[in-house]
Amino acid sequence: MQKLAIQGGYRLSGEVKISGAKNAALPIMCASLLTADELHLSNLPDMQDVSTMMKLLEQMGVRIDKSVQATAFNAAVVDKLLAPYDMVKTMRAAILVLGPLLTRFGEARVSLPGGCAIGSRPVDLHIKGLIAMGAEIHIEHGYIHATAKRLHGAHICFDLISVTGTENLMMAAVLADGVTVLENAAREPEVVDLASCLIEMGAKIEGAGSDKITIVGVSKLHGANHAVMPDRIESGTFLVAAAATGGHITLTHARADILDSVLDKLREAGAKIDVTGDRISLEMTARPRAVNVRTAPYPAFPTDMQAQFMAMNTIAEGSAIVVETIFENRFMHVQELQRLGAQIEIEGNTAVIQGCDRLDGATVMATDLRASASLVIAGMMAQGETVVDRLLPFIDLTVSNTP
Ligand code: EPZ
Repeated sequence: MQKLAIQGGYRLSGEVKISGAKNAALPIMCASLLTADELHLSNLPDMQDVSTMMKLLEQMGVRIDKSVQATAFNAAVVDKLLAPYDMVKTMRAAILVLGPLLTRFGEARVSLPGGCAIGSRPVDLHIKGLIAMGAEIHIEHGYIHATAKRLHGAHICFDLISVTGTENLMMAAVLADGVTVLENAAREPEVVDLASCLIEMGAKIEGAGSDKITIVGVSKLHGANHAVMPDRIESGTFLVAAAATGGHITLTHARADILDSVLDKLREAGAKIDVTGDRISLEMTARPRAVNVRTAPYPAFPTDMQAQFMAMNTIAEGSAIVVETIFENRFMHVQELQRLGAQIEIEGNTAVIQGCDRLDGATVMATDLRASASLVIAGMMAQGETVVDRLLPFIDLTVSNTP
């Protein structure tokens, strides 16, 4: 398992090209299962979950050809309607093959994802929606076994806003018989990017990006070319890293229009932000001010940016309150930040951070992707060396550090 040793006390400065969005790429790759034609995807991020998803699709029979311009996915021959435990346990997003397999092939066997570091994360809303569309579902030996002659349209109102729940049912509905309406649907930009790709493949979808999505089923989809949107969480993470270290950074191939809540909070902390086309520049010339954040579904403040802002608040001017409303166990990074000297009190889903003058390097443990990012940022702020242990191979922070 990788470790990262960070020499703190440097300002982050430079230019970085933003990758394609992980949370758009994963469902869009699963959409390749919906057609026998080729789906060409460009701007796929180079990261572990993406290669795991490729392996998952290949073991089902999907042919994947990589070229410089794009990666071609061909699901003409799919002879294994199975997502095995060994793959699903490393990547929960594997649940996103359930809808496409069931709606195109009438059967799917997908391992239940189980809990993860940030919460129990059940998939009951995915299953409930598919049953409403006429699926027969049995949980056998830890697997979801779903069958259906042909799914039919349904009116589904989500009890809770679920991103992958919305994506799974939207993909199931594009080949279903009739009209499906998803109410209280997720409005995340990644849902919109998936819908755009499906529409390019011939699907009939209206309302993606709003809380009511209407899908008129068609008999089959065709191939398409799609460029995955830029990653707004990777963008936000780099911007916070620069703000927290008093740096100056420019992101390219980024989108500011899907980052409003994050940019607003950075301005509140004292950052100077300029946006020109797909370039976002941030400069922080003073100690950040403490900012309160409350996570909620898009367009509110994203839970995937909570840990990074908490790290910045540990050395900010003043005290801040961070409220996590999406996942019940997403404060695992707090104990690790406290090891660096951070002053944080937790009460239920609320953390109170008292900004301190300095952090001191130490060895810390990463528990999940975003917690890892917050510990890397804290290590950059701390005096001396910080070692982040059990680091998931994810983003590369080699932008030049000027003293
Ligand atoms: C997606 O997870 C993202 N993952 C997560 O990013 C992100 O944190 C999350 O949305 C919220 O924005 C991908 O897109 C691959 P949810 P998802 O279903 O879809 C409860 C990262 O770091 N719920 O919107 O799994 C659930 O427990 C990851 O990139 C049910 O109760 O999240 C949670 O409390 C982490 N039953 C809430 O809803 C269900 O059937 C929202 O979860 C589904 C969800």
